[in-house]
Amino acid sequence: MPLKSSAEDLIPPRPTLPALKSAAADCQACDLWKTGTQTVFGDGSRRANVLFIGEQPGNEEDLTGKPFVGPAGKLFDNALGDAGIDRKQTYVTNVVKHFKWEPRGKRRIHKKPNAVEIAACRPWLEAEIALVKPEVIVALGATAAQALLGPKFRVTKQRGEFIESTLAPYVMATVHPSSILRAPDDETRRLEYRRFVDDLKKLAPARAGAVIK
Ligand code: URA
Ligand code: SF4
Repeated sequence: MPLKSSAEDLIPPRPTLPALKSAAADCQACDLWKTGTQTVFGDGSRRANVLFIGEQPGNEEDLTGKPFVGPAGKLFDNALGDAGIDRKQTYVTNVVKHFKWEPRGKRRIHKKPNAVEIAACRPWLEAEIALVKPEVIVALGATAAQALLGPKFRVTKQRGEFIESTLAPYVMATVHPSSILRAPDDETRRLEYRRFVDDLKKLAPARAGAVIK
């Protein structure tokens, strides 16, 4: 049997974002393409100075083909607005680009991607970062943070701090917006939302290219 082609082999030489996106539409580098509706590639401005990275598309993203458009995406949009950031000037993507799920009744329940899937999908993320060359990268949640900053990274301890990294001049991790949706009560949710917005506000000087280290 021929080897499954790796995502690396699908990346066109000197790609543009649209060329990358259309190449990724045919990716079969891990098994998730079989159960996902479509590849959900990153979306946003080629000239973005902030690049956000989530975990993987959810149900609505799988159906629409766009990242962060479901409930977590709506919360994310509100928080960006409250932090004074225009989403259209950012680039938003995920560590893994197919929705991984398991059935629960008629619903499709999100399942965490494993290390093999994260590694298989990584060339797409690296190609996006190489093209956009953002001033700041923000990992949303532990999956993205650990994929970028190593398995020992703890979002609970290190959220909102700029971390030394070769990926971009400024790299930060914060919580995943869906963790705020899962808060046990309204008061916790309000508090967690405010902390999330506060982390996003810290991006302002880095986005402006100022030295903040
Ligand atoms: N959660 C993510 O991590 N990414 C999305 O695109 C949507 C929900
Ligand atoms: Fe390819 Fe990533 Fe989809 Fe796996 S999840 S098939 S590596 S695009």
